[in-house]
Amino acid sequence: MKNSMKNPKVILVGAGPGAVDLITVKGLNAIKKADVILYDALVNKELLQNTKPTSKCIYVGKRFNSHTFSQEEINQLLVDSALEYGTVVRLKGGDPFVFGRGGEEVNFIESKGIEVEVIPGISSALAVPSNQGIPLTKRSVSESFWVITGTTSDGNISKDIALGAQSSATLIILMGLRNFSLILNEVKKYRHKYTPFAIIQNGTLVNENILIDTIANYKNIIDSIDYTCPGIIIIGDVVAEHPAFLEEEIQRVLETTF
Ligand SMILES: C[S@@+](CC[C@H](N)C(=O)[O-])C[C@H]1O[C@@H](n2cnc3c(N)ncnc32)[C@H](O)[C@@H]1O
Repeated sequence: MKNSMKNPKVILVGAGPGAVDLITVKGLNAIKKADVILYDALVNKELLQNTKPTSKCIYVGKRFNSHTFSQEEINQLLVDSALEYGTVVRLKGGDPFVFGRGGEEVNFIESKGIEVEVIPGISSALAVPSNQGIPLTKRSVSESFWVITGTTSDGNISKDIALGAQSSATLIILMGLRNFSLILNEVKKYRHKYTPFAIIQNGTLVNENILIDTIANYKNIIDSIDYTCPGIIIIGDVVAEHPAFLEEEIQRVLETTF
């Protein structure tokens, strides 16, 4: 049903890290009222069960080597949908402004004179380690954390990985699985070899998986990475708080002692 008499508006909503109940109340209320929803690949599809029966849901996801729409097409679709139907929810994984191109979308929509609202979401950068009981900061262990992309627009690793590795901060690397060896080799140049790291895949979902080791032994886990699933890499002494790290270490001591 067309709604052109209503005020066109786009609401960028953070859908949270994966679990359906890790969205904000405000974000869920926006989904319930939307005339059109444009949603990304990492959004939990169960959230779409909260839409009005009349609302249109359009998948605009971009995963590695598989883009349904270019970013320019998504920008235009947001504007066209708002003008034609009224309220559009742009539903994005995690928080819209953490590696989500949310800023670009806001700029484009505003340039067309359309109202925009942003409803923050719980970023995977924070929620995924937290869900595994890994604190990103801890007194006397880590005073800060860096959230860095593992793949820049030209396919390389970010130069900030070397800078972060030279600090004592916890490193949280998104979109880094395909560059995992490059990243770990870079970090190894600056951190001691017993620094623990973890890869968490499908964080906060029922099929969540964690791989854990020290950076000296990073090659041991390469064959266990599932490149079809989202994952984050966490590097730093706080990872030792995870019980699996202790088990790994005890196993290693037993193997070398007996
Ligand atoms: C394009 S970025 C978007 C990040 C999102 N805006 C956020 O705040 O979480 C996508 C990356 O986030 C990370 N990611 C998102 N959801 C995840 C999850 N449930 N488990 C592990 N990593 C996740 C992965 O590194 C993935 O490649």
